Amino acid sequence: MPVLQIVYRSLAREGFDEPEMLDILRVSQARNQRDRISGLLIHRAPVFVQLLEGPPDAVLALYERIARDPRHHGVEVVLRQEAAQAAMPTWAMGYLSATAGDCAGPEDAFVFDYAQARSLCEALPPAIGAPFLEVLGVSA
Ligand SMILES: Cc1cc2nc3c(=O)[nH]c(=O)nc-3n(C[C@H](O)[C@H](O)[C@H](O)COP(=O)(O)O)c2cc1C
Repeated sequence: MPVLQIVYRSLAREGFDEPEMLDILRVSQARNQRDRISGLLIHRAPVFVQLLEGPPDAVLALYERIARDPRHHGVEVVLRQEAAQAAMPTWAMGYLSATAGDCAGPEDAFVFDYAQARSLCEALPPAIGAPFLEVLGVSA
C-alpha cells in the first residue's frame, strides 16, 4: 500500500526539556502504532527533524496536529512524497537525542546512539536521509 512520507524541521521552544521530550515520545509511540504511522525523530537542540510515514490521511492529520504544537515553532516541510512502502516500517517512532550525548527514553521507545543513528540515516533513501544527516552534522 502506498504511503505518504513527510519530513519536517522545526525549532524547540525555549526551555524545552527532557521531561517534555519523554511525554512526546510516550504519546507518539502509542498513537503512531495505533494509526500505522512509523518514522524517526531526531532532536539536536534546538532543532527537530522528523519523518512521518503511513496511510496518507493519518499522516496529514498527524502533521497538522504536530504543526500546531506550542512546544516547537518554525515548522517547515522539507520533503513530501508518496512511496511504495515505508522506509522504517517497524518503528512507531525511532528517537535520537543528539544533544544529550547519552540517549534517554521510555523503555518501549526505539532510542539510538549517535553511531547507530548515523548509519541508519545513511541507509535511508537519500532524499529522506539528507535532512537527518545534516542535523547530525554529517556533510553530504
Ligand atoms: C517535535 C514533536 C514531534 C511529535 N511527534 C508526534 C508523533 O509522532 N505522534 C504523535 O501522536 N504526536 C506527536 N507529537 C505530539 C503532538 O503534537 C500532540 O501533542 C499529540 O499527538 C497529542 O495530540 P492531542 O493532544 O490533540 O490528542 C509531537 C510533538 C512535537 C513537538
